[in-house]
Amino acid sequence: MKIGISNDHSAVELKNSVMKHLQEKGYEVVNYGTDSTESYDYPIAGSKLAKAIQNEEVELGIAICGTGVGISIACNKHKGIRACCCSEATSARLTREHNDANIICFGARIVSTELANDIVDAFLTTPFSNGERHKRRINQIREIEYIG
Ligand code: RB5
Repeated sequence: MKIGISNDHSAVELKNSVMKHLQEKGYEVVNYGTDSTESYDYPIAGSKLAKAIQNEEVELGIAICGTGVGISIACNKHKGIRACCCSEATSARLTREHNDANIICFGARIVSTELANDIVDAFLTTPFSNGERHKRRINQIREIEYIG
């Protein structure tokens, strides 16, 4: 599975550690974030990853900023993107099962390296449940997205 990852300046170290973890597990990981600790705005980082998913360059994405919140808001402004900001693995699993989320977000100032690995493992190994009620709700989100 091809995974995209992106980050702002606050999350370079955690991004590198998550990338290493995923590469060791055999994932192909494409880096859309900054590798510098110079200030780099999270909307730009989120947008690059969201566009890569829209263009089907990568299947799922991981977005990291200081809190995970700013970058998740930026990702969610893109059509077809369902980005979930969370700080534990249960939400990461359930957002795949119920929301068919395509980006997981978390904060480098919030989660440890180990917890970040648990979150991405839960996210990447859980399929969408395909349940009728979940599909209906995702379609309702799409309607909001197109109508405003
Ligand atoms: C950058 O200092 C910080 O504001 C950003 O990483 C993020 O936490 C925003 O939500």
